Amino acid sequence: MPNIVVVGAQWGDEGKGKVVDVLAPHVDVVVRYQGGNNAGHTVVVGREKFVLHSIPSGILHPRRCCVIGCGVVIDPAALIEEMEALVQRGVILDGNLFISKNAHLIMPYHPALDLASEAKRGERRIGTTGKGVGPAYVDKAARVGIRMADLLDEPLFKEKLVANLEEKNRLLREIYDAQTFTVEEILGPYLRYAGWLAPYITDTSLLLNRLIDEGRSVLFEGAQGTMLDLDHGTYPFITSSNTTAGGASVGTGVPPTKIHGVLGVSKAYTTRVGNGPFPTELRDETAELLRARGNEYGATTGRPRRCGWLDAVVLRYAARVNGIDTIAVTKLDILDQCETVRICVGYRYRGELLTEFPEEERIWRDALPVYEEMSGWQCSSAGVRAYADLPTKARQYIERVAELTGREICLVSTGAVREHTVLMEDSPLPRWFPSLGSTPF
Ligand code: GDP
Ligand code: IMO
Ligand code: MG
Repeated sequence: MPNIVVVGAQWGDEGKGKVVDVLAPHVDVVVRYQGGNNAGHTVVVGREKFVLHSIPSGILHPRRCCVIGCGVVIDPAALIEEMEALVQRGVILDGNLFISKNAHLIMPYHPALDLASEAKRGERRIGTTGKGVGPAYVDKAARVGIRMADLLDEPLFKEKLVANLEEKNRLLREIYDAQTFTVEEILGPYLRYAGWLAPYITDTSLLLNRLIDEGRSVLFEGAQGTMLDLDHGTYPFITSSNTTAGGASVGTGVPPTKIHGVLGVSKAYTTRVGNGPFPTELRDETAELLRARGNEYGATTGRPRRCGWLDAVVLRYAARVNGIDTIAVTKLDILDQCETVRICVGYRYRGELLTEFPEEERIWRDALPVYEEMSGWQCSSAGVRAYADLPTKARQYIERVAELTGREICLVSTGAVREHTVLMEDSPLPRWFPSLGSTPF
């Protein structure tokens, strides 16, 4: 059974949660491999809406094995809150959720440092989610991080906490003029979290590899998106993990040789939340229309998302750095009212036409998008479930996206609920997920 990575092809919020939810019944395991509770993955089941932050979106399917891999950073208080809310809504976690011993903890000083350093950056602030994700990865790379396994070893946890607090308190007090923490105010609650989470904490690399060797299939659920990747994104306006498909191996302990395909998720247009370059950003009434129709407000922070046209340069770049085999296009219905639709096919910079995504911050800032324009379909695609039933011009748009990216489209999403999904028969999906069929809902 193939093991497939689902990765965001833009700046996050592409609809990964919805796509994972559609595919989850057809795999055995769903695993998150990076990021933390900066993520907000929305799944709509009938009239019910779930927003998953640290737990894989597969959890809504009974008896799906869900794993939080070693590459994820975990805020235990936030995770427990998310777990309790799911249990209250009837989701069964016991026996279904597994947390890596090697995953690093987000400690209370991490959000404090996140907010303080953002405030100090002024104009150059990243616009982080403030969840402490960046500072937690800083500690991981600096080899002073505290891991899930440490949380279960009280003396060691205390030793690491004391050592960390000495340094963090000086940083908070002397550099940022911010509030400090005492050992006691962290130790007590964290030991309680340890008791709560202990039954779920395990060696998840061993678990995943054993399951794969038994013939089970794994879906790797990416968080954020390609352009927020630590190495391949629009640095420094990025998140602090490897969001790209390569992160799936590092962040789980499943070797690349056991991963068989990559599915990229892209909106039919582009959004970005937070600061940083966004060549196709619009600041006109089309942006307002996309924001209003697409309800483009952050699932984690509620911030309005910046909106713009689809950028095929970004998608081709994402296809390259992730090895995307096939693309799922979401939120097609949001473009329904547009008189014309545009796709960026290159950037104009100092008289030159660039067709590959550049690596220089200067070029991201000053490059102007070069668009191809198509007339809009101006009728409803909402809820359509068969490709033939999409408006002709909407099909032409989808086909143009496939041409410009050189990748087949495997799925078109026409609404937030599971059922509002078009599955493409001539795509890798039926091969990857034989039980999916063409009309699974
Ligand atoms: P993620 O972070 O990639 O999982 O995406 P988010 O959940 O942050 O944002 C995607 C939003 O779009 C969510 O509110 C989804 O419910 C919604 N959504 C996903 N696909 C569609 C679609 O095809 N049409 C519409 N109208 N909404 C969608
Ligand atoms: P999902 O998984 C969209 C953005 C933040 C900010 C930058 C750094 O739902 O797609 P961080 O808190 O990670 O240090 O913030 O990254 N960001 C996201 N944008 N979707 C996300 O997750 C994001 N997670 C972080 O807005 O610009
Ligand atoms: Mg999101």
